[in-house]
Amino acid sequence: MIFEYPPGQTPIDAAEAEALIPQLKTQGELNEWEEENILSAANWALSDRVLKRTDPLTEDYLFELHRRMFDHTWRWAGKTRTTDKNMGVSFYKIRTELRQLLDDVRYWRENNTFEPDEAAMRFHHRLVTIHLFPNGNGRHARLATDVFARTLGKPIFTWGGANLVSQKDARAHYLAALKSADDGDYGPLLKFGRE
Ligand SMILES: Nc1ncnc2c1ncn2[C@@H]1O[C@H](COP(=O)(O)OP(=O)(O)O)[C@@H](O)[C@H]1O
Ligand SMILES: [Mg+2]
Repeated sequence: MIFEYPPGQTPIDAAEAEALIPQLKTQGELNEWEEENILSAANWALSDRVLKRTDPLTEDYLFELHRRMFDHTWRWAGKTRTTDKNMGVSFYKIRTELRQLLDDVRYWRENNTFEPDEAAMRFHHRLVTIHLFPNGNGRHARLATDVFARTLGKPIFTWGGANLVSQKDARAHYLAALKSADDGDYGPLLKFGRE
């Protein structure tokens, strides 16, 4: 299996790569395989029946969501990373940073600190900045953010209206918006999320 990494991707290491479940040869085949796995998870997560009893601001839910998105693809689906990456906090800080993030966002939700979209995008940005998993952090955080929006009574986001895995322009646009958010400006991410 030959992995390819477009900009803004976390390379996976040899041990993580060995945990690939299906026998695949190319990144294109892997993308397709993952997309199908993720689609069934999204159908589960965004169904009215499941949403009714969902609180996305819990550790258990966020891990279950990643597990369901990648359970036919990676043996580490739903498990936090155990090594450091070119992005994200040191691996041993993941659990405490996540606890802090969930406390913060629950507080915002209870006190209407931000408009729903802004709370959602701040949640999204902090989640990818922590970088919980060996891979799939962007896709997981986008779906988790969509679920959060739905539980606030808002529609899911458009995320630029394109496939961010395969469309280079849209992905560059998304990464630029995240970089602005790194500098504290959420405007571009808020716009991107609804265009
Ligand atoms: N400057 C940045 N600040 C915060 N998050 C970033 C930045 N650059 C990339 N990311 C996030 O990291 C993700 C890539 O991590 P990765 O685990 O490979 O996710 P995926 O496999 O779903 O693309 C991007 O999709 C994006 O969400
Ligand atoms: Mg990736």
